[in-house]
Amino acid sequence: MSKIVIAFWSQTGNTESMANAIGEGVVSEGKKVEVLNISEISPEDLNDVQAFALGCPAMGVDELEECEMEPFVEKVEKISSGKTIALFGSYGWGEGQWMRDWEDRMTAAGAKVLDGEGLICQEMPDESVLEECRNLGKQLALI
Ligand SMILES: Cc1cc2nc3c(=O)[nH]c(=O)nc-3n(C[C@H](O)[C@H](O)[C@H](O)COP(=O)(O)O)c2cc1C
Repeated sequence: MSKIVIAFWSQTGNTESMANAIGEGVVSEGKKVEVLNISEISPEDLNDVQAFALGCPAMGVDELEECEMEPFVEKVEKISSGKTIALFGSYGWGEGQWMRDWEDRMTAAGAKVLDGEGLICQEMPDESVLEECRNLGKQLALI
């Protein structure tokens, strides 16, 4: 049985909470999942994974976190053609531009972004956002 990988970067736990809820959604569909901090996975591990989720909050000036996540995503772009990718992350005071830029990048790399857009939430996800995350996980599991 193929597994779903959910890889995230998170500083204060908001994006991590989203990752865990997406993982719950995957498991609820009876599929195997690995929810991994970005430091626990290398881009090459995604070579043979057809569907996966990537999470990162808005950092810098509406950018991906630059030390770990940005280099990771640059490598993933090279292997993304034909894959389905769910994007998610938390933000603070911006308007979600970091996620729109990220969606555009992955689409340009040939990936299908699940739902057509990333799932974002302001700061800590509340129960309704966590439910959206679980639903995203269910969709990933059905691919
Ligand atoms: C250094 C730094 C830069 C940030 N830059 C932005 C930003 O450009 N736009 C924004 O909307 N939020 C920004 N934020 C807010 C975070 O995206 C927000 O607090 C988010 O919930 C953190 O997610 P995490 O708990 O997964 O780390 C920034 C936070 C920090 C610490």
